[in-house]
Amino acid sequence: MRARSIGAATATALTLVAARDLIQKKHSLLRNFPVIGHARYLLETIGPELRQYVVTSNEEERPFSRDQRTWIYASAKEENNYFGFGTEVDIEHVQGHAYIKQRTFADTLPDTHDPQAPLPSAKVLGGPRGRAKAFRPASVVNISAMSFGSLSGAAITALNKGAALAGTMQNTGEGGLSPYHRNGGDLVLQIGTAYFGCRNEDGSFNLDKLKDVVAGAPVKAIEIKLSQGAKPGLGGMLPGAKVTEEIAEIRGIPLGSDCASPSRHTAFSDVDSMLDFVELLATETGLPVGVKSAVGEMGFWQQLAALMARGDRGVDFVTIDGGEGGTGAAPLIFTDSVSLPFRMGFSRVYGTFAELGLTDEVTFIGSGKLGLPENAAVAFALGADMINVAREAMLSIGCIQSQKCHTDRCPTGVATQNPWLARGLDPASKATRAAVYLRTLRKELMKVSSAVGVAHPGLITATDIEIMNGDYDARTLAGVYGYKDGWGKLGPHLADEITALLATKPTL
Ligand SMILES: Cc1cc2nc3c(=O)[nH]c(=O)nc-3n(C[C@H](O)[C@H](O)[C@H](O)COP(=O)(O)O)c2cc1C
Ligand code: SF4
Repeated sequence: MRARSIGAATATALTLVAARDLIQKKHSLLRNFPVIGHARYLLETIGPELRQYVVTSNEEERPFSRDQRTWIYASAKEENNYFGFGTEVDIEHVQGHAYIKQRTFADTLPDTHDPQAPLPSAKVLGGPRGRAKAFRPASVVNISAMSFGSLSGAAITALNKGAALAGTMQNTGEGGLSPYHRNGGDLVLQIGTAYFGCRNEDGSFNLDKLKDVVAGAPVKAIEIKLSQGAKPGLGGMLPGAKVTEEIAEIRGIPLGSDCASPSRHTAFSDVDSMLDFVELLATETGLPVGVKSAVGEMGFWQQLAALMARGDRGVDFVTIDGGEGGTGAAPLIFTDSVSLPFRMGFSRVYGTFAELGLTDEVTFIGSGKLGLPENAAVAFALGADMINVAREAMLSIGCIQSQKCHTDRCPTGVATQNPWLARGLDPASKATRAAVYLRTLRKELMKVSSAVGVAHPGLITATDIEIMNGDYDARTLAGVYGYKDGWGKLGPHLADEITALLATKPTL
């Protein structure tokens, strides 16, 4: 009898907890997995103690270590994102570890009075090539390409609203511009090999459709996707079962049939015709136009720089994606072994443009785990003007790194088209988290710039950071990546301009 009443009381309690979990909007996991989802939060809470005795260290998990994820989660929730008791990294022995060299005295420091303020780019996007709609991006940190289709509508909405709150841009990804991208955030429209949203029935590019898409949304720039770090040189296949009415409409493809993305573009076939295509898009839309690519063989970049040196045609920006970058789904050989990691790939491309004196003419954007302050600082030191963040932004809106994105069973509703799972993600509250994370990253970049004694992260140079080279030896980034004198630095007029925009005199 007593056992029965205990059982009834337990069942009532569990029902109440389940009801509360389903109704609340703060935790996507609990909305999707009422009651049992609490186990994850319990494990997270006692994780440090458990790991102390039993499991792995805070630095071991991949792609993002527990410490890195903790920093993103705490930043997004506006919680204390500091770490106590000192570093857990064996800093003298970890090969590749970066050391930023602080300066004791400085002439100028960044104005950190308004931590909410966007942190503008040092370069005007499209300015050097005189594009009609050239502009200075308000934020050096922006949201990287991720399509509706690989992410849920709720996740795209949260990121778009977050972008609007934080004053950043969101890249649509190659899946076209969806209604979820129209929530107030500025956009970079990505065009991939399948030209989703701007294609003819046979899959070829359609300029008029592109102009219609651009005219109907706050598109600030166009990015032609050549490849991405996690799966370069690989075409995609969207199975017919996933081609819902909504996706068919957005992408401009037939309902319910398999849709293959070719591995290469059909609108151009070499660097020369690619530059013609770039100029066509820029002339017809007035927008800055750039390319996104992972770095493999260097012939492409050498030809691009050589043709741009003539001055009549050119890209406004290049987005270099590191081989360590993310994807919704890709074969292991591609995620692990095709294309160079960010630092190697970026420095080779930057050097190719630097040899021809072109670095001030192009905005360099980097991606590949750069949504963490130390990686971002290295990117800026190597010459990046802006960085894009993808998985870090996903973490900020609730992703728990369960790595099931390719199964359509994402437990937090971020990377799924399953309506029940996507319902768990509340776009309004997650938008705030995305925005707070983006702002916090910018704020930390300002703090690091201040420590180095410069007014903007773009002024951190390749000699301001050293990396551990093994055998107790550290070398500057410039030394490791073969940078010549002046490489990785903004030209004097750009440096003066951005310093004047942001700087303040150090106070006593
Ligand atoms: C779920 C997902 C979808 C993505 N979709 C695209 C895409 O449509 N186009 C693209 O160029 N890159 C795509 N990417 C790559 C990202 O834009 C980014 O370049 C890469 O993940 C590196 O950034 P991160 O390390 O901050 O994640 C995707 C990445 C993820 C995780
Ligand atoms: S499946 Fe896992 S890793 Fe992918 S978005 Fe969802 S929670 Fe994140």
